[in-house]
Amino acid sequence: MAGGYAHTMAEWRSDPAQFWLKAAEAIDWFEAPVTAFDPNAGSYGRWFPDAICNTCHNAVDRHLPTRADQLAIIHDSPVTGTVTKWTYSDLYARVNALAAVLVDQGVSRGQRVIVYMPMIPEALVAMLACARIGAIHSVVFGGFAAKELAARLDDAEPALILAASCGLEPGRVVEYEPLLSAAKELAKDQPPVLYFQREAFPAKIAGNDGDLTALYGAALEAGRTVPCTPLAGTDPLYILYTSGTTGRPKGVVRDNAGHMVALAWSMPNIYGVSPGEAFWAASDVGWVVGHSYIVYAPLLIGATTVVYEGKPIGTPDAGAFWRVCADHGVVSLFTAPTAIRAIKKEDADGELPSQYDLSKFRALYLAGERADPASIAWAENALKVPVVDNWWQTETGWPIAANPMGLETLPIKPGSPAVPMPGYEITVLDDDGVPVGAGTMGNIAIKLPLPPSCLPTLWNNEARFREAYLERFPGYYYTSDAGLLDDDGYVFVMARTDDVINVAGHRLSTGVMEDELTSHPAVVECAVVGAADAIKGQSPMGFVVLKNGAASDTLEAELVAKVRAEVGPVAAFKRVIPVPRLPKTRSGKTLRATIKKIADGESYTVPPTIDDVGALADVEAAIAAYGA
Ligand code: COA
Ligand code: AMP
Repeated sequence: MAGGYAHTMAEWRSDPAQFWLKAAEAIDWFEAPVTAFDPNAGSYGRWFPDAICNTCHNAVDRHLPTRADQLAIIHDSPVTGTVTKWTYSDLYARVNALAAVLVDQGVSRGQRVIVYMPMIPEALVAMLACARIGAIHSVVFGGFAAKELAARLDDAEPALILAASCGLEPGRVVEYEPLLSAAKELAKDQPPVLYFQREAFPAKIAGNDGDLTALYGAALEAGRTVPCTPLAGTDPLYILYTSGTTGRPKGVVRDNAGHMVALAWSMPNIYGVSPGEAFWAASDVGWVVGHSYIVYAPLLIGATTVVYEGKPIGTPDAGAFWRVCADHGVVSLFTAPTAIRAIKKEDADGELPSQYDLSKFRALYLAGERADPASIAWAENALKVPVVDNWWQTETGWPIAANPMGLETLPIKPGSPAVPMPGYEITVLDDDGVPVGAGTMGNIAIKLPLPPSCLPTLWNNEARFREAYLERFPGYYYTSDAGLLDDDGYVFVMARTDDVINVAGHRLSTGVMEDELTSHPAVVECAVVGAADAIKGQSPMGFVVLKNGAASDTLEAELVAKVRAEVGPVAAFKRVIPVPRLPKTRSGKTLRATIKKIADGESYTVPPTIDDVGALADVEAAIAAYGA
């Protein structure tokens, strides 16, 4: 690759607009952008305001002349015992067929479509079919329960829901139809659901719902095609809801043009992947890693994407990831550190990878949570390839900081996702917004404007967008992560500064769980913190103050069941510890960070603003009594 990291950053700094216009040459435009950036549009400017394009065209149609017979998608599903392979021409036929179904249903440009599907290739087809006609997809992760689903329905106001009839977790069928029916009852509107029927649990179709399998099958049989709708580069491609400080999820909006440009740049330069190679992001289409690196980025560059419906362990064992890499000639695997910790627990000496032919495998990428140095060391030793941490967020859609393996391999410092990517001017600020020196912890902020792909706004809520991200430090995007930059410009991302916790690579709001606990009649008030967990990174722990006489032997089970039913199993909420009172500041703010330190057995300083210092001893005693 011409020019290393320093050269690339210098190129970007000297002329950001030119840098991104050059990157935009990787995209097939209906009308190529002339202006890279309009600083006067939106809250901080908009990328590629005059481009006309279609993401589905770039991910599918564009490859037909050169790679029609190349594999586009490999679905490897140990939970069903199947492997399905589709070429780009198969994908073209399927996306067209589903787009035809959408058109038949009256879905049009700008309308929202909720996709509620597990890791099946039809999820990708559904997303691409929406992109084809300019409908805005919003994928909801299968591990969320009805109430979370309803919150997303109310905010996105979809015209249609595309769902699978079930998901398959090891040893458990997740029936989607009852979840959707419950969500529709809670939601203000009841859009129709089209079900893609899976053998394990076909959905009962009633009311205004329909059978996607039949409609899609018929459209496929008939060879129906639907042209790609020319869209403004700034039109939304999707909304992806993510957890914020309050119970209400934030609808992160992604545009078409900026997203394509950034992702297409990232594949060769960050992940070192070329067209025709097999790339595997072992995440879920319901998360941003899945959107960017299972679906869009690999397909945009004409690579083969692996869609894995299984777990790192137990399907059938801790060698599953290496089996998939070997079977499909994967060159780069992208996963969450929690998956590596789970594998490491079962294969402590790292013996399983050597049982597979990993001759094509070049690098392991980790993101979604802090990559702990011990897991990195284990993976390097077991796999004998670079293990590369990268840091980003749903809001950005691609790495803020990474080791750009395609440009050059920079020295790896375990515990750091390395250096800023072009477009991101990372600055660490103290609480007053003053930049701090190298080595000092503070709030990680990014100087505006954000680069292409980053959210221009929150769906239907510009005010919340500004308040959550732009107003805390004027002139900067506030990441809500705390950390530091070292003397070499490496960033270390240590913790969230808000009430978001990261459980097994899943971003969750403690506020949502607290809402469920406080709505139980026995609970007066509560605090949920993310206590350290050896495998999941963090695991939620609930502290509850009970009404007099409300304690009971079944209370913990009731509260655990409530969070599971209302938020979803993915919250992995299992522990409830009654306390006589919560430690608070004199202004009434619960001292969650201090409670977390106590739960983690760390030393802590008594906050000077504490109202009643005795409440800390109560928490310590309650944890000791619980045996956590
Ligand atoms: N649909 C329905 N339920 C789901 C689900 C889904 N898509 N994903 C997870 N769940 C359920 C699990 O079945 C589990 O239910 P249980 O309480 O009945 O056992 C619960 O949610 C918690 O799941 P999880 O946190 O994933 O724990 P686990 O013990 O099943 O697995 C790991 C642990 C580490 C193996 C697993 O979390 C993992 O693979 N993590 C990687 C995460 C990832 O890829 N994140 C994306 C960011 S890059
Ligand atoms: P999500 O939006 O689900 O991708 O979660 C984003 C959050 O996960 C970030 O704000 C960080 O708190 C955390 N995160 C993601 N990647 C990393 C990483 N490489 N190192 C440290 N934290 C990370």
